[in-house]
Amino acid sequence: MEFFAVSPTAAKERTDCAIVGIYEKAELSAAAAELDRQAGGHITRVTDQGDFRGKLGDVLLLSAVKGARSTRILLVGLGARGKFGRKQYRRALTAAVGTVVKTGAKDALSYLSQEQIAATDAYYGARVAAEVVQQSLYRIPDLKSAKKPPAPALKRFGVAVNGRGERNAAQRGLDHGAGLSAGAALAKDLANLPANICTPTYLANAARKLAGEYRSIRARILSEPDLKRLRMGSFLSVAAGSDQPARLIVLEYRGGKSGQAPVALVGKGVTFDTGGISIKPSAAMDEMKFDMCGAASVLGTFKAIAELELPINVVGVVPATENMPNGSATKPGDIVTSMSGQTIEVLNTDAEGRLILCDALTYVRRFKPEVVIDIATLTGACVVALGSAYSGLFSNNDDLAAALDAAGKRSSDGAWKMPLGEEYAEQLKSNFADMANIGGREAGASTAAAFLAKFTDGLQWAHLDIAGTAWLGGAQKGSTGRPVPLLVDYLLDRARALP
Ligand code: BES
Ligand code: MN
Ligand code: ZN
Repeated sequence: MEFFAVSPTAAKERTDCAIVGIYEKAELSAAAAELDRQAGGHITRVTDQGDFRGKLGDVLLLSAVKGARSTRILLVGLGARGKFGRKQYRRALTAAVGTVVKTGAKDALSYLSQEQIAATDAYYGARVAAEVVQQSLYRIPDLKSAKKPPAPALKRFGVAVNGRGERNAAQRGLDHGAGLSAGAALAKDLANLPANICTPTYLANAARKLAGEYRSIRARILSEPDLKRLRMGSFLSVAAGSDQPARLIVLEYRGGKSGQAPVALVGKGVTFDTGGISIKPSAAMDEMKFDMCGAASVLGTFKAIAELELPINVVGVVPATENMPNGSATKPGDIVTSMSGQTIEVLNTDAEGRLILCDALTYVRRFKPEVVIDIATLTGACVVALGSAYSGLFSNNDDLAAALDAAGKRSSDGAWKMPLGEEYAEQLKSNFADMANIGGREAGASTAAAFLAKFTDGLQWAHLDIAGTAWLGGAQKGSTGRPVPLLVDYLLDRARALP
């Protein structure tokens, strides 16, 4: 897809499809009014007839309008003018693009970015447009045997901005949106694959492939003998119950100065979580193929920053394993020794995410990272607390938490700050080891975070619990690609690449 920014007047520009907004009560936006004049009042006649009221997200496609230079005019409802903000803009644009891709239009031009969008500028207006287009074009790599429908005709998408001054910012927004979406699409592809295909070995090969595609990325894959040598007893205790060998994937992106301390991203890569011996109930267990969404978001973020050539250094560490209950599986009550030397009583083998992350968090210290962020589908409790609206955000550093919170807001991929503290670590006391791997029923997301905190002493660390945000269930079952937008926005900010 080619994205471009222009600063035209609506009546002059030729396009296969002009996307113009109508506010509530059929109030025409400036671009719509201009096209209306050009088309001899065609749009006003449509609204006067009561065929389009401007309700947010409504669309009406007008074809072959006499007098108009564009082949099609797509009316999009923007809702109340005073309430038109980021969310409404995204919704209107999503509806519009969803309609455009079903037509034969090879190019389209959105005038919605010329509207006053609360808390948005030319950069974000354009970036959202690129994201929405790429999102609409995304198809799950399904294994349906029927012939695939033909690809949409749409090849070029433009955003119209107000004046030449906004054009550079908009073009940058489009480029960033495209890079970000490419990363999110990779994350989605990996996550949507079934667990019999997307194994730890498959994830490792996906990392190798990334390194092959971008000179700025290097991948190293550690196998179980390496993990034994590193004394990753906690990680290996999860892999013990599976016939699929575990892998530790180490990615390095070098875009910054060679001495510059990296940002480290650590992603939970449980390619299937049965719960192990503490086996899960059968209902919806298929969704536990998504338990590697943290890993997928790390690979996706690497793809995005490599596409965007950000001038920073980033390392990615992904412990990848299944959590299965074979005859060698770890049993409740077993005690394991983590790479940090701390011992853990495994009271519940279904609390496996923290067991693999703790060793990855210890391993990452060798890179002397400035910041460490782990991303994990860690707890059902986080889903209960926040639903699918926000990822849980935990940090031992208020500035880091604030930076991630802001990145989430800017990218419409929000995270909500959750408590981390000694109060929760209390619950992890064990009579037999340094700690247990579970607490009680209360505050499950925070006890999981408190467990990880025991391995991040002295690090500037944040933990994103994406159990509720990484995928959707039900009829829309599939990966969301979150939190790639948040992570990429945070890294864009660190690279001072945001306007
Ligand atoms: N992968 C799950 C968390 C999860 C559950 C994510 C449901 C999304 C939806 C994790 O490994 C897990 O099983 N956590 C347990 C922890 C408990 C045993 C302390 C949970 O949340 O039930
Ligand atoms: Mn589990
Ligand atoms: Zn899990």
